[in-house]
Amino acid sequence: MPIVDVHTHIYPPTYVSLLRSRKTVPYVRTFADAPDSSRLIILPGEDDPSTPSTSRGRPIGPEYYDIAQKIAFMDQHKIDTSVISLANPWLDFLPAEEAGEAARKINDDVEEICARYEGRLYAFGTLPLSAETAVIVAEVQRLAGLKHMRGVIMGTSGLGNGLDEAALDPVYAALEKYGQLIFLHPHYGLPKEVYGPRANEYGHVLPLALGFPLETTIAVSRMLLSGVWDRFKKLNVLLAHSGGTLPFLAGRIESCLLHDGHLKKQGKTEHRRDVWDILKTNIYLDAVIYSEVGLKAAADASGADRLLFGTDHPFFPPLEEDAKEWHSVTANYGAISKAFKGDDMAAQDVLGNNAVRILKLHS
Ligand code: URA
Ligand code: ZN
Repeated sequence: MPIVDVHTHIYPPTYVSLLRSRKTVPYVRTFADAPDSSRLIILPGEDDPSTPSTSRGRPIGPEYYDIAQKIAFMDQHKIDTSVISLANPWLDFLPAEEAGEAARKINDDVEEICARYEGRLYAFGTLPLSAETAVIVAEVQRLAGLKHMRGVIMGTSGLGNGLDEAALDPVYAALEKYGQLIFLHPHYGLPKEVYGPRANEYGHVLPLALGFPLETTIAVSRMLLSGVWDRFKKLNVLLAHSGGTLPFLAGRIESCLLHDGHLKKQGKTEHRRDVWDILKTNIYLDAVIYSEVGLKAAADASGADRLLFGTDHPFFPPLEEDAKEWHSVTANYGAISKAFKGDDMAAQDVLGNNAVRILKLHS
């Protein structure tokens, strides 16, 4: 039975060079007080001058860009196949005129990396979302012709105003037409004010544990409310981190909608597909939630046949220098075996069969 990791990132060499050439977030650089170690600074606010340069962002080593290390990690954790994706913030920050070419180069890089490990690697491509719509649509079409590509990874900003912007419709139409799934992944988090004045005492916990999932939840709720899935009934989206908090909050979203007098007057509470229908028809959830409780909610909301194992490698490595096994990965394996105790078939589906079927791997 195959084990497939659908949530696993890489910064291919072209992208690392791009980040090394930059002086504002996102960038990679060394600091005078630690010249031997490069740091990857990607999240908003990570290079705040109040943070010492040696604790800004995270150290970046070959596990972020050397595919041999990804394969070694897969071997170590018994992962047969990985669907790799560029990590955040993708190409969101590029000027329009540079984005198209950068996307083509990165996608070709990633395609070539997959071809080197036939059967072990597939990928989600990257879109030049700051470019003109025609350039984005052309890349969707080009990706559909690349052997190892199985969809696209996307952040929550879309063309700049979020995923409920009508201007995205041609992109959604192209993705639907070419049967390409969107892997929706957070990056921007929430405004830092919500974390309060003591936020810097808590490391990255609040933005990563809560900001990321809430960002995803808000983005997907906006897609829902703007009727994306009423217009594009076959558009499929894989949500990172088991849907953020969508499985837990879906009932509340549906109820608030039904009790909104303003929307009712506009006729927007009827003739629409409800949240539960979309969760079971258009949405897939990864199993990157590290606990049985969250995983059960995800399975209840979308079905165990729509849940897909993931690791988020190379993020969340063990902090012990000599550890071989990653706690973050064993937590996700443990959650699957606990949530599907007594139902080996469902566990196998989540671990790999669902990904093979949904993403048409090995074909
Ligand atoms: N931190 C990130 O910036 N991205 C991830 O995918 C995980 C953690
Ligand atoms: Zn991730």
